[in-house]
Amino acid sequence: MDQLLVALDVDTGDRALALAKSLRGVAGGFKVGSRLFTAEGPSIVRALVEQGDKVFLDLKFHDIPNTVAGAVESAAALGVWMVNVHASGGSEMMRAAADTASRAHTRPIVIAVTVLTSMTEAALDETGVLLSPLEQATKLAALAQEAGLDGVVASPQEVAAIRRRCGDRFTIVTPGIRGAAAPAGQGDDQARTRGPAEAIAAGATYIVVGRPIIAAPDPRAAAEAIARLRP
Ligand code: C5P
Repeated sequence: MDQLLVALDVDTGDRALALAKSLRGVAGGFKVGSRLFTAEGPSIVRALVEQGDKVFLDLKFHDIPNTVAGAVESAAALGVWMVNVHASGGSEMMRAAADTASRAHTRPIVIAVTVLTSMTEAALDETGVLLSPLEQATKLAALAQEAGLDGVVASPQEVAAIRRRCGDRFTIVTPGIRGAAAPAGQGDDQARTRGPAEAIAAGATYIVVGRPIIAAPDPRAAAEAIARLRP
């Protein structure tokens, strides 16, 4: 299922490569996030790219424009298919990321995180953001689009509103996938969730699923169960 991206949130390259091997053909791509990247560095990204996998480098860059532009340039040189920044870094920073990507030899898709899927209204309020997660995510999605980014990461609960606001060609990637086919484990931290088919029906371009697949006794069977649910 091209739309299913699996988060390889494990702590060794060997485990990540073994998971990738068992999921090829059912996953459309693999997400390398801060846990795996901090443990293994760029070599794990290169290893996946060399095997022909689409890699979404999910390091959520959030820094001054010049630094973010440099990080996007390094990500493009690694051959990643998709990379992201934090929309709350502002439009100048996002524009720097988009401009750098467009100059790359192979241009990666650049998207922006709107509001983390673990954040509730109260958690957002604590950080000084007085809008609801839906309002804040939609506002940041519009800002990302105006800055020239290809899309956003948003919770499945905000997909429909962002799709309406940003149009059909905007990429929307949704983590926070939970439900019967993607059960929450103990101590799960996702807050604004939906099932995989619901997220796609609402307009998600890609869904990102981590623990419901990688912590399952049979990750491939778990991924296949999710892939079967396409709306
Ligand atoms: O295990 P789970 O299905 O919750 O994995 C979701 C993945 O998506 C994690 O790697 C998490 O870091 C990432 N993510 C997220 N919310 C965002 C952006 C990325 O959950 N807004």
